[in-house]
Amino acid sequence: MNFDLSEEQIAVQAAARDFAQTELLPGVIERDTEQKFPADQIKKMGALGFMGMMVDPKYNGGGMDTISYVLAMEEISKIDASVSVCMSVNNSLVCWGLETFGTEAQKEKYLKRLATGEAIGAFCLSEPEAGSDATSQRTMAEDKGDYYLLNGTKNWITNGKSASIYIVIAQTDAAKRHKGINALIVERGMDGFVVGKKEDKMGIRGSDTHSLMFTDVKVPKENRIGEDGFGFTFAMTTLNGGRIGIASQALGIAAGAYELALKYAKERKAFGKHLVEHQAIQFKLADMATKIDSARLLIWKAAYLKDQKKNFVKAAAMAKLYASQIAQEVTTEAVQIHGGYGYVKEFHVERLMRDAKITQIYEGTTEIQKMVISRELLR
Ligand code: CAA
Repeated sequence: MNFDLSEEQIAVQAAARDFAQTELLPGVIERDTEQKFPADQIKKMGALGFMGMMVDPKYNGGGMDTISYVLAMEEISKIDASVSVCMSVNNSLVCWGLETFGTEAQKEKYLKRLATGEAIGAFCLSEPEAGSDATSQRTMAEDKGDYYLLNGTKNWITNGKSASIYIVIAQTDAAKRHKGINALIVERGMDGFVVGKKEDKMGIRGSDTHSLMFTDVKVPKENRIGEDGFGFTFAMTTLNGGRIGIASQALGIAAGAYELALKYAKERKAFGKHLVEHQAIQFKLADMATKIDSARLLIWKAAYLKDQKKNFVKAAAMAKLYASQIAQEVTTEAVQIHGGYGYVKEFHVERLMRDAKITQIYEGTTEIQKMVISRELLR
């Protein structure tokens, strides 16, 4: 593995950093406080190619590698994790899933719009009683010949209201357990599809997380992704890649908090000298930087394996497990270094500390990552 980034990768990283500073930083506190979805910012990111970075240019994507994607995710997440979760779900789950497993017609109809950010996608797996235990789907997709009749409820859906294209995982034949599950493309506006309650969250408050209700929604057969019964494998395979995106989000949150803490420690004086001159602070910064670099290496390894078309399941789960854990630790230390200022909104680190927590929960909890890693180890 080459640790030197290519010119193109450096350019992508710089473009994402510039965009985050100029377009995301202004207003980030207000969006968090008011739970305001960053619609204008996402539109601009679509125009710049950040919403379908890895999609083939023939479907309007950027044709970039996964390393470029994780670099951009890190930079965007340093400033606004509410924006980066929308970006991650659209890129890694919805676009990648459709491009890899969708039909040509599905790619023409849906992927082309998703890749430019003209449409936003949502990935609908979690249910009131099926989050980690993903095989226990209660949402039913009854086979009616030409179409599926979709009934059920999904919970905690990222981009729940802002999306217009939804990949919904549902049970068609419960007796077959995970082999009876299908993945269906559902469009906003289909009869019987209602966006429900918005969650009032601890962190990533700018992103819109909703429940979704489906009552006798007729989904045409041509909207099924893959063969009959492929839905669970589709979800698991797609989530493997999604975990690289969320690991990068956790890394960005940690790195953003570290950069703020370093800047503050250079400026602030206590006991007659700058904070950075106190060994207690130097040791904290050394630990934070070491953890951030370690997480980045795990993420780059997972991205590299994915780009090489090698098995990256374990590497992605390890990257997410570790990056989400150090995001808690680093953001907490960043607040500590800021002292009382760290506890108020203006200094950003309290938001980063709140945002960090979700990275240990969505796209598989910490415990799920350990299940995935141990499954691979024992295989
Ligand atoms: N990759 C590919 N296939 C996998 C897989 C993986 N990581 N994990 C399981 N599978 C396959 C198995 O090979 C098996 O297939 P076969 O029968 O064909 O061999 C099938 O799935 C069932 O496997 P298990 O019997 O091991 O399944 P399980 O019920 O014990 O659970 C699990 C496995 C790993 C715990 C899985 O349920 C899981 O990953 N759960 C977490 C789901 C999750 O991440 N939810 C988050 C919601 S999405 C989200 O958060 C998006 C967002 O908004 C940000």
